[in-house]
Amino acid sequence: MRVGIMTSGGDCPGLNAVIRGAVLNGIKSHDQEYLGFLDGWRGLLQGEFMNLERSMVRGISKQGGTILGTSRTHPFDHPEGGVDGVAAALDRHQLDGLVAIGGEGTLAGAKRLADAGLPIVGVPKTIDNDLGGTDYTFGFDTAVQTGTEAIDRLRTTGESHHRCMVAEVMGRHAGWIALHTGMAAGAHAVLIPEQKVTMAQIAEWVGDAEDRGRAPLVVVAEGFVPEDAEEVHTPLGLDRHGRKRLGGIGDRLAPLIEDMTGIETRCTTLGHIQRGGTPTAFDRVLATRMGMGAADMVADGDWGRMVALTGTDIHRVPLEAALESLKTVPQHRYDEAALLFG
Ligand code: F6P
Repeated sequence: MRVGIMTSGGDCPGLNAVIRGAVLNGIKSHDQEYLGFLDGWRGLLQGEFMNLERSMVRGISKQGGTILGTSRTHPFDHPEGGVDGVAAALDRHQLDGLVAIGGEGTLAGAKRLADAGLPIVGVPKTIDNDLGGTDYTFGFDTAVQTGTEAIDRLRTTGESHHRCMVAEVMGRHAGWIALHTGMAAGAHAVLIPEQKVTMAQIAEWVGDAEDRGRAPLVVVAEGFVPEDAEEVHTPLGLDRHGRKRLGGIGDRLAPLIEDMTGIETRCTTLGHIQRGGTPTAFDRVLATRMGMGAADMVADGDWGRMVALTGTDIHRVPLEAALESLKTVPQHRYDEAALLFG
């Protein structure tokens, strides 16, 4: 059986472990051979690939990034794409199946193609942990670990200077990374897109921490919007006209906090640091098991579905499970964390 595999969308620690898991299980259990397409759908449609022999995946699960490269090319936007284009590419390479590793956009494209009868399985991927259908996505644990280490460092410099430190982490639509890094690092406030919080409340948490002699630590997800501050009311660093502007929400919050509390405040945006580097052991294991599960699905011809973690087990769920609704932070998880604020 010839199988294509590709990584698509933003990168994520653990992608190489998925590739290794699929290739090793495919070779050992199912007599599969793997072609790795470069830069996601682009490589598939333009015929750029590498043969993934066993030796090619040796030791890669600890490497960050993806040995295949990735891109945000969408199969339905590419000139040679669409159902016919992808079907022709699968034919050209004599592929019996395709493993698409990616986030919402990739899995939505994979679903349309699978609905049209193409032999595709999915592996869900995002550091944001906001895809439905799976309890966790690989990459999230690494992003939280990286964020926590960075915030621990911000705390010591903040304490030395008696400053308030604001750390902006990723999370456009869901605040999982902020919630977990904030809890792990002992933040005095965690601000996430799911929760409406006023500037007065933020200033109160910061002031309370300072009153107790602490250097206030605020963790904010990039998609957070304060309830009442007009000047920071444009999420994602976009202005009202949708144009990119410098500085994310953290940079815009810091001067407001300083004005309201009188405490000198600095912001650090962690940005893509959270996506880079070596995956944690948890992510390596999860990603490896997902890759192995994908090879099993291909062997069974179980098209149009993806691997998912339910509890501690890898299951198979329809691709739409990831797409139906965004997995956001539930109220009780925020309330639990908020007990520790201030
Ligand atoms: O979806 C994952 C994510 O890491 C988001 O949290 C973030 O907004 C986005 O990717 C950044 O993507 P890019 O690599 O295109 O800047």
